[in-house]
Amino acid sequence: AQLAGCQSAWNGPTEALPAAIAACTRCPLHRNATQAVPGEGPRDAALMIVGEQPGDMEDLGGRPFIGPAGQMFDTIAARAGLQREAAYLTNAVKHFKFAPRGKQRLHQRPNGSEIEHCRWWLDAEIAQVKPKLVVAMGATAAQSLTGNGAAILSRRGQIEESRSGVPVLITLHPSYLLRLTDAAAQERAKAQFQADLAQAVAIT
Ligand code: URA
Repeated sequence: AQLAGCQSAWNGPTEALPAAIAACTRCPLHRNATQAVPGEGPRDAALMIVGEQPGDMEDLGGRPFIGPAGQMFDTIAARAGLQREAAYLTNAVKHFKFAPRGKQRLHQRPNGSEIEHCRWWLDAEIAQVKPKLVVAMGATAAQSLTGNGAAILSRRGQIEESRSGVPVLITLHPSYLLRLTDAAAQERAKAQFQADLAQAVAIT
């Protein structure tokens, strides 16, 4: 394990981390977002789950995975025997990136620089929680954790080594499931996501 990578440059006290994330101006995304969304869950969780970035509802509510993607996650996690409250849930990027379109705010994928700037915080969360396993949901989380942003479909279900040395199980992002319009394809993807989460439960 590459322990050196596990030591985040941020080394303030545990309880100060959410406030430090809230005050972050390391990249331009803080300018338009309502607030930063730090991770939530037990500080000693064996399992950490990492998404991409807060969505519209998370940006307004200040908590991760409380919108449609979060509902999809909760549904499939329950089927996999995973209790959301037992895991530490966070995102690779802590501010919502969007493009205004009329009254709507359209989700935009964070770029490599934004992911790298925010990795400072994800590394700090990993250093605090010291999970046994991290689940990367989608390409952004996988890129942040492993340095490899290659397509997820051929990687999912497999365990890779993160830059911090903690094993990372790669899986689909719940928003991807929501975007699938073909019912059979969506059922297949849900089954894969459920199997990956069940594998994470079995490991932890
Ligand atoms: N999508 C994510 O990746 N994270 C959230 O918190 C919400 C939606």
